[in-house]
Amino acid sequence: MITRLDHIAIAVPDLQASIRRFCTDLGLHFGGSEDVVSARTSTAFLPVPGTSIELVHPLEGQGPIAVFLEKKPHGGLHHICFATDDIDADVQRLRALGYTFTSEGPTPGAHGSRVIFLHPRCFDGVLIELAYHPEHT
Ligand code: CO
Repeated sequence: MITRLDHIAIAVPDLQASIRRFCTDLGLHFGGSEDVVSARTSTAFLPVPGTSIELVHPLEGQGPIAVFLEKKPHGGLHHICFATDDIDADVQRLRALGYTFTSEGPTPGAHGSRVIFLHPRCFDGVLIELAYHPEHT
C-alpha cells in the first residue's frame, strides 16, 4: 500500500552548484549525499517536512541520469517516489492491472531501501518510483 510521497527527484548537471542553490540560496536543509552504485547516481538529500527533494547526478558520467541530461542538459524533474509498506504486493497488484516496470523486480536503492520504477508511459509521462524502507515499518 502506498503510504506517502517519499521524494521528488531532480536531475542536475552540476551537483555542488545545485546543492548551493537549493540549500544556501533557497534555504532547504542539506541532509547528506550518497553514491548509489546500483543506480549509477550520486544523490543529495534535502529533507522537507514529510518528504524530501533528491538531487540526482550521474555517477562517473554514466547511467540513466546521464542519458536524461543528454536530452535535457539544464536538468529537470526526473521522477517522483511513493513509499510503500509492501513493495512486492504493490508490484504484483499493479502488474495484474497491466502496468509495466523498468526492471524485473525491486533493486537496492539509497539508505538500504528496495525500489522499482513504473514505466513513464503508464503514468502520463511521469516516471514513478516505489520505495520500501525496512526501517520505517
Ligand atoms: Co528516487
